[in-house]
Amino acid sequence: MSTHKIPNDYTVPANVLAERVILVTGAGDGIGKAVSLACAAHGATVILLGRTVAKLESVYDAITAAGGPQPAIYPMDLEGAVPNDHRQLAQRIESELGRLDGLLHNAGLLGSLTPLEHYDPVEWLRVIQVNLNAPFLLTQACLPLLKRAPDASVLFTSSGVGRRGRAYWGAYSASKFAIEGLMQVLADELDENSRVRVNSINPGRVRTAMRAAAYPAENPAELLTPQDIVLPYLYLLGPDSRDVHGRALDAQ
Ligand SMILES: NC(=O)c1ccc[n+]([C@@H]2O[C@H](COP(=O)([O-])OP(=O)(O)OC[C@H]3O[C@@H](n4cnc5c(N)ncnc54)[C@H](OP(=O)(O)O)[C@@H]3O)[C@@H](O)[C@H]2O)c1
Repeated sequence: MSTHKIPNDYTVPANVLAERVILVTGAGDGIGKAVSLACAAHGATVILLGRTVAKLESVYDAITAAGGPQPAIYPMDLEGAVPNDHRQLAQRIESELGRLDGLLHNAGLLGSLTPLEHYDPVEWLRVIQVNLNAPFLLTQACLPLLKRAPDASVLFTSSGVGRRGRAYWGAYSASKFAIEGLMQVLADELDENSRVRVNSINPGRVRTAMRAAAYPAENPAELLTPQDIVLPYLYLLGPDSRDVHGRALDAQ
């Protein structure tokens, strides 16, 4: 797999995302929340997609209180969404905002850490639906809009267990391997003349609710916070990564 380092001397220009519309899934909490706030602080109009409206509203309020461009809230449960729900979302973005320049697939479901022999098949399907099928459906629905943008970025969220399998990580690990495959297939379909670039990012160990659920005995104070890792996301969603395509990246 082709890997790429984000330049360590990269400094984010103040309004690097000005005029851009960026859709973030799982925007109400954890990494998605921090990246949404950072995108807005750098000029983007952010579409906040998630399943818990109160969390999305608090991100919305924080963006407007900080004087950022007015965001949009799009409540959607990616587990239950059917292809038409994804198409409707793309149509709403087109009719109300007129463009889409960035798509961050960040929402994720951990599932249970269980040996495959005992993994609950229903839970397997739920995790694959949220972590793999939903990003496919949303990407497919948004691609025509993304292709019309002057310089668009699609970013899939991977994991360490999406690059090397680990016992008990079951559907989560399989879904993250598959997201790397989805990224590579799409990147290969969108050649160098395409104005849409596609990459994956592994956030690394980050202090969030998901991390605490996976590692309950870990001291969260020893982990980076979501705010600590926003820079690579801003780089990959903004114009400075224009030539980065088909890569599997690490945020730390
Ligand atoms: N934290 C880490 O150490 C780490 C490491 C490797 C990879 N990752 C990946 O990074 C991404 C963000 O994770 P995080 O740590 O920030 O986790 P998090 O704090 O649990 O946030 C996950 C977000 O996804 C949303 N979500 C879950 N299921 C959804 C659904 N069915 N429909 C819509 N939204 C849904 C959640 O919404 P609610 O808030 O409403 O539940 C939440 O906002 C995930 O893809 C995860 O796999 C994280």
